[in-house]
Amino acid sequence: MHEFGESEKKLANSIIEYSLKRIAMDPIPLDGPATPQELHDLYGPNITEKGLGGEEALKRFADGYALATMSTDHPRFWAFVPVAPTKAATLFDLVVSASCISGSTWIEAAGAVYLENEALAWLSSLAGMPQGAGGTFVSGGSAGNLSGLVTGREKYRRLGRIQGRPALLTSRDAHSSVAMAARITDIEVFLVDGDEKGKLTGEALRQKWAELSEPDRARVFGVASTAGVTNTGIVDNLAGVAEFCTEHDLWMHVDGAYGGAGLTQPELRDLYKGIERADSFVIDPHKWLFAPFDCAAIIYRDPTDAERAMTQEAAYLDDVNKERDWNPASFAYHLSRRVRGLPFWFSLATYGTDAYRDAIAETLKITRYCTDQVRQRPYLELAIEPELSVVVFRRSGWSDGDYVAWSEKLLKEQVAFVQPTTYRGERMMRFCFVNPRTTEQDVNEVLDTMAD
Ligand SMILES: Cc1ncc(COP(=O)(O)O)c(C=O)c1O
Repeated sequence: MHEFGESEKKLANSIIEYSLKRIAMDPIPLDGPATPQELHDLYGPNITEKGLGGEEALKRFADGYALATMSTDHPRFWAFVPVAPTKAATLFDLVVSASCISGSTWIEAAGAVYLENEALAWLSSLAGMPQGAGGTFVSGGSAGNLSGLVTGREKYRRLGRIQGRPALLTSRDAHSSVAMAARITDIEVFLVDGDEKGKLTGEALRQKWAELSEPDRARVFGVASTAGVTNTGIVDNLAGVAEFCTEHDLWMHVDGAYGGAGLTQPELRDLYKGIERADSFVIDPHKWLFAPFDCAAIIYRDPTDAERAMTQEAAYLDDVNKERDWNPASFAYHLSRRVRGLPFWFSLATYGTDAYRDAIAETLKITRYCTDQVRQRPYLELAIEPELSVVVFRRSGWSDGDYVAWSEKLLKEQVAFVQPTTYRGERMMRFCFVNPRTTEQDVNEVLDTMAD
């Protein structure tokens, strides 16, 4: 099992050949789900006492299970928040896998962590956070939100600023992972109504503050704001949030898991004003920054806040903790970790940051095109003016069942993968564009199928 003999070399060639074929595929297959029974019936059990051999196991994956596994980099995968990794990032993921690196501590992975930090520094500079800001790469925006909020809560607890059960202010449109982080940590959430677009504003926060009792106010340690709401792509009024946090000395968390990538666009900069005042900031390269899963960044204005909150204590960790080197394990809820920022770093180093700016601009161009098409087609109606790359719209005369049936038909016919959403209580369609290879023709072909 641990030798690299002739059969492993042959297997290596097969795996590399399969990987290269997959990476080069054009068009990329969409594929789709199957039932557990269908999957079972493909080959029966795969884990056996004597083993199948790598060639057979690979064949079963490639010819069977892979076809029941969707590719988010398909140019018509517009559901949720997909990702279309760059070729360089995908290729370097193979290198990370081949290298068996523990990315927990500096002593184990100094070179790799140094490079991850270079990528983090670029992300931090996009937000205009000060020199000295930093953090780590985690598995996703959910893990980033949890880590940022726990760090804030711990800081305020340490300072004796929380009287009772900790509480947090956030918008109704914040991502579900904020509520989940609060549930895990038993933080109470006070929901704030946004403005007409759903934006969290300083004014809305002040109004909520005025409604809270004195004991409730004494429990609030922070505000979780969003730079790119998942459902609509709307960016909160971060300058207003920052002002409010300063007035009441609260922790400011910004969830830019999806929308942070818009910071690369000079013409969108004003939307994000105030983000530079965040205490913690999440941005996911595995959403709109072309890195393979799983790669999200959590960045702190003062990383020592996170070190105090997140460093795990154990006899066998005493020495690494004492060194106060840059130990990624100390900046989030994790210990063992893959150096998941490296494929992103490699891609940035390969193509340069201008290529990122331009690729994101392409996705915004296609968003504008889709928005115009929705406006021009009499059977469609835009629900909200897009700020980033999400388009939410209604098909006149359709109810929930129509959206669901249409989405299922598109997938069955391998045309596209889309999912309906609910906006302001009404079922609608939502597209999220993060793939620069999506074309105007893709948009037209999909919208055309809504006509009858
Ligand atoms: C704004 C926002 N925050 C957090 C998340 C959660 O990220 P992940 O799925 O990487 O945990 C998402 C996912 O779409 C998101 O859009």
